[in-house]
Amino acid sequence: MRHHWLLLGACGWVLLILMFVTRFISFRAVDDYGERVGGQSGTVPGAKVNKPIPVSSQEKAVPNSSDEPSVVPTAADWQSVSDRRIELLSAACRNSSLRNLTHVSISKFVLDRIFVCDKHKILFCQTPKVGNTQWKKVLIVLNGAFPTVNEIPENLVHDHEKNGLPRLSSLTPQEVTHRLNSYFKFLIVRDPFERLISAFNDKFVKNPRFEPWYKHDIAPAIIRKYRKSHRDSSLAASGLHFDDFVRYLGDADGRRRMDRQFGEHIIHWVTYAELCAPCEIHYSVVGHHETLEQDAPHILKAAGIDQLVSYPAIPPGITRYNRTKVERFFSAISKRDIRRLYARYQGDFTLFGYPSPDFLLN
Ligand SMILES: *[C@@H]1O[C@H](CO)[C@@H](O)[C@H](O)[C@H]1NC(C)=O
Ligand SMILES: *[C@@H]1O[C@H](CO)[C@@H](O)[C@H](O)[C@H]1NC(C)=O
Ligand SMILES: *[C@@H]1O[C@H](CO)[C@@H](O)[C@H](O)[C@H]1NC(C)=O
Ligand SMILES: *[C@@H]1O[C@H](CO)[C@@H](O)[C@H](O)[C@H]1NC(C)=O
Repeated sequence: MRHHWLLLGACGWVLLILMFVTRFISFRAVDDYGERVGGQSGTVPGAKVNKPIPVSSQEKAVPNSSDEPSVVPTAADWQSVSDRRIELLSAACRNSSLRNLTHVSISKFVLDRIFVCDKHKILFCQTPKVGNTQWKKVLIVLNGAFPTVNEIPENLVHDHEKNGLPRLSSLTPQEVTHRLNSYFKFLIVRDPFERLISAFNDKFVKNPRFEPWYKHDIAPAIIRKYRKSHRDSSLAASGLHFDDFVRYLGDADGRRRMDRQFGEHIIHWVTYAELCAPCEIHYSVVGHHETLEQDAPHILKAAGIDQLVSYPAIPPGITRYNRTKVERFFSAISKRDIRRLYARYQGDFTLFGYPSPDFLLN
């Protein structure tokens, strides 16, 4: 009899823990853009939400970038912005001095990143921390598994067994080739260094409980190999520092074996070139996170689905490049380490038209 009560009690605990865990999992979507939504306290109350707020030159990647208009552009303008990006991409792919950084094979790793919507002939290469959950929801709705974006349970978005959004890697080589040659293909990118900061914050600072492997496996491995002072390794409990992370990322050859051990988790920091093979796959559109408010409707229109779905509301200000933040994170990193990091990520800067971060390099 006593055993029955014990069993019942144990079941109760398990249920409670499960409820707790699911709460955390649904919380994750809030952070899909790589920034805290709550961090918007600086906005003036009553400020207009839909109009892009003109960006002060200090906050911009380039003081005079054609990429970031301060007035809302027309659809035709955005088509030409998009065309220029594709031209720049193919020119950068032809640049032989960047070959090592820009050309990769279309491996299973790449095919795993690409999601398929057969009904509307769309391929989407997933690059974390740029609002990808939202795009996946859009495609899940288009594939017909759910009627609207809001009806998709949060825990199903990333469950590709059940959500009706197959990966390209699940198809035969012939099926893959056919889709790569004829479908509408897109990806979203953002400033490469800001992306790394976002990955660092999200995986090693905030370090959610439902992803324990970052703290328990990956961080200690990086610290053991890349922390400068070994006396410091007893402080591993204090967690990964940004300078450890930067040295690891910049060590192209040394990190190869570690990366194999880390498995899929490296998608948060390997280059966009490695994730999506943009020189081998001829993408139709490359969206920029920084201009997502223009890019999202443009992509829907270019893919011919703008009458069927809309992209979920983008929290205002959340996609903007923050140079102050980048400067702050790199202020304690040695020039040598920053240059090595840049050497590793230069391909992404050049392919997607992000200016080299001279304010950090010189
Ligand atoms: C921006 O650049 C264009 C051409 O590159 C130039 O004509 C224009 O004066 C520049 N605007 C500012 C504000 O610097
Ligand atoms: C190729 O890339 C290198 C390194 O970024 C650059 O210096 C060079 O000007 C590029 N060449 C062409 C033809 O664009
Ligand atoms: C490109 O890779 C080859 C072999 O992997 C290497 O020998 C060469 O130095 C690399 N070139 C650059 C510019 O990194
Ligand atoms: C930019 O980043 C800095 C440092 O993290 C932060 O204090 C500031 O609020 C951010 N600015 C915006 C506009 O988000």
